[in-house]
Amino acid sequence: MILITGGAGFIGSNFVLDWLAQCDESVVNLDKLTYAGNQENLASLSADPRHIFVQGDIGDAALVASLLAQHQPRAVLNFAAESHVDRSIHGPEDFIQTNIVGTFHLLEAVRAYWGNLPAQQKTEFRFLHVSTDEVYGSLGPSDAAFTEDHRYQPNSPYSASKAASDHLVRAYHHTYGLPVLTTNCSNNYGPYHFPEKLIPLLIVNALAGKALPVYGDGQQVRDWLYVKDHCSAIRRVLQAGRLGEVYNVGGWNEKANIEIVHTVCALLDELRPRADGVAYQSQIRYVTDRPGHDRRYAIDARKIQSELGWKPAETFDSGIRKTVQWYLDNPGWAERVQSGAYREWVKTQYQAAA
Ligand code: NAD
Ligand code: TYD
Repeated sequence: MILITGGAGFIGSNFVLDWLAQCDESVVNLDKLTYAGNQENLASLSADPRHIFVQGDIGDAALVASLLAQHQPRAVLNFAAESHVDRSIHGPEDFIQTNIVGTFHLLEAVRAYWGNLPAQQKTEFRFLHVSTDEVYGSLGPSDAAFTEDHRYQPNSPYSASKAASDHLVRAYHHTYGLPVLTTNCSNNYGPYHFPEKLIPLLIVNALAGKALPVYGDGQQVRDWLYVKDHCSAIRRVLQAGRLGEVYNVGGWNEKANIEIVHTVCALLDELRPRADGVAYQSQIRYVTDRPGHDRRYAIDARKIQSELGWKPAETFDSGIRKTVQWYLDNPGWAERVQSGAYREWVKTQYQAAA
């Protein structure tokens, strides 16, 4: 049994689906179901006894303690977070509460549970913290990619709150000996990605005939990793990562935003051309830049490759094609997210089934 937090979000739900497709070890999934949590992502598991969903907050130490006592997991994987940079600029408080205070309460509950485990289970236990490359700040055009030793220089309330949580996780290892692992990953993309983030927003806006907003000059660079590759990296770190270590995870796919926009447009031109024959690029609009917008992120993922033998399976070309195709094949998913109907999904689903 493992306990994961934030498993109804984009990466967490992909992780749960992949995990249960590959092994029979049950998952307790603790998720608060904020706007970003969507149980519809886990619809295929609704009758699967290996998946136990619990709606709740990682900051609720009593709830976490009771789940740990009841299910006795061998590992806790912390995906739960407020994750959207633009939202953190408009309203940072939820980011401080969940990413910092919430992680602190989760760590406290886990520390108490772990401290009382019998010797062998105590040795085998793991706390894996899922973090981001954004904690390292912004790179110049010719700077070397982020290694695990890069100084923390977070620039947004989101990245600052994730940086703080990483430091707490590190401190619980050094101070209390909690067996922790941390992963810092670059930008993910793939199925179930909430359409407020760049790639899904481009796809749904393009299909709806809406503007494709490009912040500033569109020359900001991100490293992009297909979400299933992030999931395989996390499984590998959980299995074989050295205690207390940090592993950077990336796709070796640095792209300027405008390149991403052109790629998505070209794929849509091929797979779902506009009825009027006009190219989707005609919908691109340059808009006001994000305040404090980080210019470039790049991940040096050599450590996880040399120590743990992990590397991504998808290239950007293969991953983005799968992603665009997934959104074309699942129009209802994005529609329900945009209309807010996904929040009613469980009720509707079970009423329909009754
Ligand atoms: P997401 O916003 O799609 O999902 C977050 C999930 O956490 C949601 O299901 C939400 O309901 C849940 N949640 C939020 N606050 C909670 C709380 N207090 N208690 C319990 N559950 C709560 O995020 P994501 O993109 O899936 O990211 C998952 C993790 O991976 C985050 O920690 C994020 O920082 C990290 N990460 C994301 C990316 C990326 O590109 N998306 C890249 C690197 C790292
Ligand atoms: P986003 O998907 O929000 O991820 P992050 O900010 O965590 O990297 O944005 C990816 C990049 O795309 C980022 O440089 C901001 C930019 N962007 C746009 O140009 N237009 C948009 O509408 C959005 C949402 C993002």
